[in-house]
Amino acid sequence: MSSIHIEAKIGEIAETVLLPGDPLRAKFVADNFLTDVVCYNKVRNMFGYTGMYKGKRVSIQGSGMGMGSAAIYVNELITTYKVKNVIRVGTCGAIQKNIKLGQVLLAMSASGDSGANAAYFNGMHYAATADFDLLLRAYQIAKDLNIHTIQGSIFSTDTFYDDIPNRWDIWEKHGIIGVEMESQILFTIAKRLGAKALSLLTVSDNIVTGEASAAKEREQSYMDMMKIALELA
Ligand code: HPA
Repeated sequence: MSSIHIEAKIGEIAETVLLPGDPLRAKFVADNFLTDVVCYNKVRNMFGYTGMYKGKRVSIQGSGMGMGSAAIYVNELITTYKVKNVIRVGTCGAIQKNIKLGQVLLAMSASGDSGANAAYFNGMHYAATADFDLLLRAYQIAKDLNIHTIQGSIFSTDTFYDDIPNRWDIWEKHGIIGVEMESQILFTIAKRLGAKALSLLTVSDNIVTGEASAAKEREQSYMDMMKIALELA
């Protein structure tokens, strides 16, 4: 038996899954950091791999961009494949002036504008929150690796492009540190289905200052984040 969007057999996916948006990122990490790698999913080219990292079995699965896509993979991973820990590894735009490109953020909670998330709660407001145990361990691992992290709340949006004036002012004022497109629904679904979730995010741009990182810089800081995630797995 497999699920609709993942063709893995039961047992082919590890208890802990790292979840980048980009399936080629999943391939890159599998090729460069894991041993004994098996590619368990090619449906829609949304690649998923299982391999070993320092003696531990770990999977890495592309989620696609946005909460609509991510929700499908998170649901199927937890429901069909009994995944226990889902750790997003992605990028975000910072919305505090003092946050630099390349910094690693640990998301404590995610506000957002996702229609899917609101639908679960009849339009009321659920505080989608990371798993504390994973968060604490990620924080300690980063410290041990000498990687500076910023802990705080983020915002997950359905719209990358918009023309809303001063859209992020109110969120900046309320201490939101970054904007991305997947974590809110990840936290909600994981909690509903009894799994643990966390989001590690590298800052690829700063929406307030307009800075954006070159591809090469992005690669280096992304690797810092991956190290934390792999140690956590
Ligand atoms: N918006 C949404 N998601 C993002 C952004 C952004 O500006 N930057 C990186 N991920």
